[in-house]
Amino acid sequence: MKNELTIAMPKGRIFEEAYKLFVQAGFNLPAEIDDSRKLIVEAPDERIQFILAKPMDVPVYVEHGVADIGIAGKDVLLEQHRDVHELLDLQISNCYIATAGLPNTTMNDIAPRVATKYPRIATNFYKEKGEQVEIIELNGSIELAPMIGLADRIVDIVSTGQTLKENGLVEYEKIVPISSRLIVNPVSYRVKSERINAFIAQLKNELNKR
Ligand code: PRP
Repeated sequence: MKNELTIAMPKGRIFEEAYKLFVQAGFNLPAEIDDSRKLIVEAPDERIQFILAKPMDVPVYVEHGVADIGIAGKDVLLEQHRDVHELLDLQISNCYIATAGLPNTTMNDIAPRVATKYPRIATNFYKEKGEQVEIIELNGSIELAPMIGLADRIVDIVSTGQTLKENGLVEYEKIVPISSRLIVNPVSYRVKSERINAFIAQLKNELNKR
């Protein structure tokens, strides 16, 4: 449908922040959305359909064109390099990617190991530093790796810093600031340009007030 917009949203924390931003920007959306079980949510007044996906999967839906728009963390976009247009920084879910490890430790000289769920970002970071490391890819609870001797360092998201602190780890180097971005499928952007540009303008209007 030409005027219907399908928006892929990451389930969880980012969803709540992005949804709040949409409501504040004046979109007429259902007051409460329970994103715990429902996977597709309709907002008929706006002719918008939300798809609720895992954060790492949002760019996949947008690249394949089953979603016109997506909300994705810059971390995911840097890691995946998908064929999507990144059109707006939503300035929500702000955090950064950093290296961390046990306090007062240096990297193992012979075979330094780095645990992360961001192998591309970690590889590029150490390549630019001219350090050769073995990347160990994990899917979560990355902080465990240095604690139990699996890795010398981790490359992971730091938001409040609480997870590092509670697990006795310290931050070593900041790599890149992260926030949520609005991404668009290139074909949708051509076919529905008016609708998508109006949608973005309304969001920008709200962001400019902040
Ligand atoms: C993220 C990240 C850190 C934590 C950072 O994990 O990987 O572990 O949040 O937040 P903080 O600085 O506020 O403590 P997430 O909750 O996404 O879970 P995960 O371990 O499954 O990746």
